[in-house]
Parts: sequence; structure tokens; C-alpha cells
Amino acid sequence: MTDTELTDATRAWPDHDPATKRTVPESSVPVDQDRVEKLMAQEWERFSSSTTGSSAHHARALGTLPLGVTSSFQYWEPHPIAIESAKGAWLTDVDGRQLLDLSMGFGAMLVGHLHPLVVEYVTKALESGTLFVTPSPSATSVAELFQKRFNLEQLRFANSGTEATMYAVKAARVFTGRRGIIKIEGGYHGGYDALSVSVKPEVAEAGPEESPIPVVPFEAEAGIVHVVPYNDLDRLEAIFAEHGDEISAVVMEPVLENISIVLPDAGYLQGVRETCDRHGALLVFDEVKTGLTAGYAGASRRLGVTADLITLAKSIGGGLPLAAFGGRADIMATISDGRMWHFGTYNGNPLVMAAAAAVDEICTEEALDHAEEINNGALDALDEVIARYELPAHTVGFGVKGAVTWATAPVRNYRDYKRTDFGTAELSWLWGVNRGILTPPGLDEQWLVSVAHTQDDMGLLVQEFEELAQALRA
Ligand SMILES: Cc1ncc(COP(=O)(O)O)c(C=O)c1O
Repeated sequence: MTDTELTDATRAWPDHDPATKRTVPESSVPVDQDRVEKLMAQEWERFSSSTTGSSAHHARALGTLPLGVTSSFQYWEPHPIAIESAKGAWLTDVDGRQLLDLSMGFGAMLVGHLHPLVVEYVTKALESGTLFVTPSPSATSVAELFQKRFNLEQLRFANSGTEATMYAVKAARVFTGRRGIIKIEGGYHGGYDALSVSVKPEVAEAGPEESPIPVVPFEAEAGIVHVVPYNDLDRLEAIFAEHGDEISAVVMEPVLENISIVLPDAGYLQGVRETCDRHGALLVFDEVKTGLTAGYAGASRRLGVTADLITLAKSIGGGLPLAAFGGRADIMATISDGRMWHFGTYNGNPLVMAAAAAVDEICTEEALDHAEEINNGALDALDEVIARYELPAHTVGFGVKGAVTWATAPVRNYRDYKRTDFGTAELSWLWGVNRGILTPPGLDEQWLVSVAHTQDDMGLLVQEFEELAQALRA
């Protein structure tokens, strides 16, 4: 990373949707990269000496689990922190340390850990059975709640975001009679082959910035997949112009939440909608991460652009494995009339449905607005620290989520994201971990203010961030 890239002011900040939050740094001074490296070495030493229990646990777990973890996202070097229990907004690790959880299960724990209502409903469900594999009023009731809240004509449940997005793609293919899809470069949608194209490709392999080529992992049988940069309607139109008759759907997160948070330019999502309509393709919004964290009815409703299908997971399940896909009844009819199969032994099981009913009750407009206010307060306070220390960074927020992006140039797509300062981002994450604040590992994620977090909790994040700013400028 060069200073020129860090302070690139040659491209204006575009307008963004007013339902989202982003600051524009007025002035900034590059951070001293030697200092970043020195601080990083100190912090890793501090990490190792304060997490000996996690280290021992990791050594044991390596004996059975690849990388010592149950999902590769959980891993980091030299070892991840092993957690024993969680309550509200707090985690306890195997070393007995309390950590403020700002990862919140990658955004799944929107209602907080062990919310009393989730515990009550799930405990009650345990009295009447864990799995029927038959229709049940508990599943029908939750389907009705989702239908109303997310404005879906029909929906089906699944167990993970991967499954939900896979079935949405299948439904789009069957409905349109076309096999191809378009996805966003850098977009993550779980493990389904077609959607694992160009998730986080090496830039050297990914072709020109304005016309990226699909990068297909060796193990994937992806089929016809085109990739386009986010926030680029011209490239989308160009792909449709050339390949329109083979494209069933554009599959995208309305707000990218797997490369920090990348917001839509004003009018972009509406433009995608219109482009899909012009070419007879469907629009699928993957709301696995946005969902309830974007507001009462998800990102689609909040941003005012309606997709043909949406996928949901994480925040809707209160920490239990729940996903859903749904939307237009004529598309979901591909299941009713036997044109497509949708199965799943655990779909709509009573335990998960009980948790979903509790989440629906907890996530009122007021509860989510309150969490968002706390989030916005934290973003404002971080902006103030960034401005005071002239850090080459800015904040981005959407709903109850937020992130600090270490760049002063606008991040509008994957290539912009790759130009951000990953070294300082890693130091910032580690600095927090060493001071009892766990934001998601991997630098690609964002924090989540759950309904269990308080303003004081977020004050801890601001405080440790200011200490980092002082150390960077010392
Ligand atoms: C946008 C998005 N879609 C789909 C998935 C896959 O969800 P799951 O991990 O439940 O399979 C994820 C997971 O992080 C995601 O972020």
C-alpha cells in the first residue's frame, strides 16, 4: 500500500443511499507503517501470553478438526480464542476472560446470547417434541410472520444460508428456463458451487477492474456464472447485452457485508432492478447478513427496491440454525407444481421455529431503532476520533452494523476494498481482542450492536479505538 493509494482524492465520493451511513474524511495523515509493524509484534506477544488456555485447546482440537475449528471462518493464526459460554453481549473464554462480543455469531445473535424469551420458547418446545418431519402449526405460524414482515408471497425454510441461496438460484433457473447467473465480484453467499465464483479472488487472476473475469475454485462445478463489479450498472448492462438469453438471475447482497460494509450508490439498486426487468431476469437479494440487522423488514424494504426472491438466515433464528428463501408466488410455484425439488429433514423443526417466533416478538421497530441509535452514536464517536487524529480511515454503517475502513478513498466495490490498508485493519482488530473486545476475525466483517448491547458497551469500543489512535500517533 502506498501513500498515494491511501490518500487518493482523485475520485469523488459518490452519493449514497440516505438510509445508510458513511462519513467523508476531511483530511488525513498516513500512518507510519513501521510503527504498525512494531505495535503488531507487541500485540501478538500480548495475545499469546494472555490466551494460554485457548492455545492448549487449539492444540487438542487440531487432533480431530482440520485447523482445529468447525468452520474455516473461525480460524486465525496462531490460534483462535475458544469460548466456553455467552450471555447477553458478553462471552467467557476458556482462560476465564470476559469479552464484549461484537461479532455476535457473524451477525446471527441479533437478540443477544440466551435472550430470556428465546430460552423460554425453546424450553417450552422441548416439552412437545424436537422433530416431526410433518406439517406443524409452529412452522406455519412462523411462515405467516415472515410473509408479513418481509412482504413475501410464499417462502420455504432451510437450515443455513448456503442452502437458502442455493435453492433461490435453482428456483430462478427453473422459473426462467435459463441456467446462467450474474454475481458481484467479491460477494460471498455460502458454499454452493455456482456462488463460490470470485468470492475473494486474487486480483492478479481476476482480470481488469472494470470487466472482471470469473475466478472459479478448482473444486467447484459452477456452471455459467458472470461477475460484475458492485455499483457498476454499465458493466451489468454489457454482460446482459452479450449473454442476456442465458441469464436467469442477478444474485447479490443489497449491501455488501462480506468485504466490510460496502454501500450502494444512490440509484444503483433501482438500476439493477430495471436492468433485470429489461432482460427478463430475476433479481435475488441475499439477505442472509442484512436481514433484520438492516431494520424491521430487511434491507430490501429499507432501501425501497423489491427483489423477486430473497434469502434469509442468521439474525432470524436467534442463534439456532434457520434459513429461508421466498418471494413471488409464481416463482415459488416451481416447487408446488413439481418443476423443482426442495427438501430438508430439519426444515421448520419445532425448536428452531420456537426461537424464530421469539426473535420476531423481540425485534420490534422500537427495539431495532434503539440498537441502531446506539450504533450510530458509536459511529459518530469513532468519526470524531478519526478526525481528531487525522487517521486515514472512515466509518461505514448500515442498520445495527458498523465498520471502520482503513482508507480515505471511497470503497465502492471489491477492487477498492483490496486497496484498503489491511495491516492497520489487522492491528486494530487485534488491539480490540487484547482489550476484551471481539469484533469478527477475518477483517472482512463488521460489528453488530444487538438488542443486548448498551451505549456503555459501545463506549468501550470507542475508548480502545482512541487508545489505538494515540499509539499510532505517539
Ligand atoms: C451473504 C451471505 N450469504 C450466505 C451465507 C451462508 O450462510 P451459512 O453460513 O448459514 O451457510 C453467508 C454466511 O456468512 C453470507 O454472509
